[in-house]
Order: sequence, then structure tokens, then C-alpha cells
Amino acid sequence: MAGPKLQAPKGTFDVLPPEGERRRALARACEEIFAAYGYAYAETPVFEDTEVFARGVGESTDIVQKEMFTFEDKAGRSLTLRPEGTAGICRSYVENGMHKLPQPVKLWYWGPFFRHETPQAGRYRQFNQVGIEALGSDDPSLDAEVILILAELLERAGAQGIRLRLASLGSIDTRRAYLDELRDFLRGREAELSEEVRGRLDTNPLRAFDADHEGTRVVVADAPKLMESLSDEDAEHFEHVRRMLDAAGIAYEIDPSLVRGLDYYTRTVFEFTSDALGAQSGVGGGGRYDGLVEELGGPATPGVGWAAGIERILLAAGEAGEGQSPPQVYVTPGGFALARELRSRGIRVELEQAGRSRKGQLKHADRLGVGWVVLVEEDGLQLKEMANGEQRAVADADEIERALR
Ligand code: HAM
Repeated sequence: MAGPKLQAPKGTFDVLPPEGERRRALARACEEIFAAYGYAYAETPVFEDTEVFARGVGESTDIVQKEMFTFEDKAGRSLTLRPEGTAGICRSYVENGMHKLPQPVKLWYWGPFFRHETPQAGRYRQFNQVGIEALGSDDPSLDAEVILILAELLERAGAQGIRLRLASLGSIDTRRAYLDELRDFLRGREAELSEEVRGRLDTNPLRAFDADHEGTRVVVADAPKLMESLSDEDAEHFEHVRRMLDAAGIAYEIDPSLVRGLDYYTRTVFEFTSDALGAQSGVGGGGRYDGLVEELGGPATPGVGWAAGIERILLAAGEAGEGQSPPQVYVTPGGFALARELRSRGIRVELEQAGRSRKGQLKHADRLGVGWVVLVEEDGLQLKEMANGEQRAVADADEIERALR
């Protein structure tokens, strides 16, 4: 007896053809672009000690407070399915002594991430990110470079309606002084703020900039902006980044209220959005995190990078982008060894494997869109060209390969 039907968990999805091929094409584009800039592929575990994210992403963030899939293993250790990749990469940098390598260490990654969010179009509980991180240098050319790389990738992927927002959060000290100033300002108008923002005034007053609450938005419009209190050094660093982006012809908008959902950022932050997406318009974002490696127990090490949602890139690209190439040749039964020989020459071959009649075989070949059919007859091979129906005897794979060129 058949059992009840099973479903994939809420907020997850299956990747099926032709979507799967579009992903692989995107992965190939990533590999090419990253290699040109000297970024090497890395993998870290899909789960980490919860501490990595609690300390790395920040206790007061939505991600850590509400969105992590956290569980205990059999020894009672608290583990968490990774909600993002930067903290794990930095944990690995420290654990593997990568500060001893020539700096900057440039890495890229691709894989599944998990956040317990309310699912909707473009927002899932298991999603995929591609990301890059450059660790060990605070040179502003790296900030500009990572932004350039994401711009290039989005263009290559055919993502539509792309915009870039940019800001600087200053160094850790500037930020701390600013947070005190902002906290004092918000306290002065506490009654107008949402309960949530009030509850986080001590730990994370920056969250006020993210709020949908009308009263909070009114207050925030008058609040002091971090970009106005940057130190000379930070302002100069940001100026450098801007100049390099200008020279590269990258359009952006300075947005002093740009706050990202993670606590580790310092100095440059940025976000690419797409008008082609609905409410979840963020395609990719990132920035500098000069204190994160130290926070995770390593030596003081600057870093900068970004991550982009694979699903959102593909949504923003609509139907654009490559699908799978159809087979070139269709071979009828009896041609198993011949099909293998043709494939070894780089030809895409489909073999009849469903017991169709000769008529059914030709119909199927037509549906597949192949250019050629090899009919395996008792007295030898016949090559049929689908475009004009012409058919002739051929001796072997050599002759078929020549006909295809
Ligand atoms: P993030 O902005 O939290 O940054 O995530 C990056 C991207 O992941 C988003 O722009 C979005 O495209 C995608 N994404 C996030 N959550 C979901 C979801 N629930 N469903 C589908 N896609 C989603 C980070 O994760 C940082 N680690 C980026 C970074 C790297 N900063 C420095 N280095």
C-alpha cells in the first residue's frame, strides 16, 4: 500500500531542470570571474558552534535572536546551521593560522545557508549564497574591487534593474562614539519609538534605521547620521573607495541610513538591489569587518567581502541566462558503444532508452531538437539530418563527427 505523500519542509525548495542548469551556468560564471581577480574556492562546515555566530554576527541582531536553526548534539553542545558565511570563514582563518600566509587571503564560497524567516518569494529558510572575502588588508582598493566583482557578476548573470547603495560606518571607535550619541538622541524621544526599537536601545540603537514603524521613522529622519561623524581617516578611506568606483564607471547612491542586518561591519558597507524583485529586493550585500577576526579570537585582521543570494540573482535575471544545451545527436538502439565513442569526442549524445518504435524514435528526436539521428540498421549506420530529412550511409564515428562540423 502506498504511504501518505511527503512534502519538502516549509521555506525549502527542490532545484529541478531546467533551473538546475541555470544554476550551474551561474556557478561557471562565478568561477571565471573570481579566478580573474585571484579569489580561491573554500568550504566551511554547514554547521558551526553557535558561539561563532553569536559572537560573530552579534547577539542583538535579528539573525541571532530570531532566525537561527540551533540544536544540541548528543554531547549537549549547541550547534547552529550557518545563517551566513563570513563568521565561519573568519573562524577558519584563525583556526588554520591563515594570517601566516601572504596577505590578503582571498576566498570565495558557494553553498546552502539557513534562516528561520517567514517564507515568501525570494525569501526561504534554506537558500544559497555565493560570497567572497578578502582578509588581511584594509586597502581601500579591496573595498572597490569586491564591489566591482559583484557588479560584474550581476551583469554577466543578466540581473535586471540593479542599483547600488553605499555608505561608511566608520572604524570601531568612531562607531562606538556615534552609537552613544545616537542612543542619547533616541532616548530624548523614546515615547515616539516602537517597542522593539526601545527594547534594543542599549544593545543596538542602529536598528532604529531599519524600522517600519511610522513614529520611529519620523524620529530617525532627524537623528544624527554616522556618515557625518566619520574620523578624518575613515572619511579619507571612503573617499578613496568612491574615487576608484567612479573611475571604474560604477554608478552608486550614497545612503547614510544603510544599515545591514549584521553587527560586524566597519567602514564601507554596500547593498545591491533589483527593481525586478518585490519586497525582498536585496540581491547581494556586504562590507568591511575590520574587528571580526579579533572578535573570534584571532590577531587584529581587517577584512572585506559580500554575499549574494543565488535564488535572488536568478529571479532578477528572469528568463535570461543559459539553459542546458540540447543533445546534438540521437542514436537508435544497438548504438551503445557508438554513443560512448561520440561522447568521448565531446559530442552531446542521447540514446534511445525507452523502447520506442522507429516512428516514435524519430518523433522523440524531433522533440529533443537534435540536428542528427544515427539509425543503427542491420547492414550498417545511416545518418539522417533532421533539418532536411536527408539520409546517407556512414562508416563510423569519424565520419559522423566530420558531418557535424
Ligand atoms: P546578507 O545581506 O545577510 O549578508 O545576505 C546576503 C544575501 O543573501 C542577501 O542579499 C540575499 O540575496 C541573500 N539572502 C539572505 N537571506 C535570504 C533568505 N532568507 N532567502 C533567500 N536569500 C537570502 C551576509 O550574509 C553577509 N555574510 C555578507 C558579507 C560577506 N559581508 C561581508 N562578507
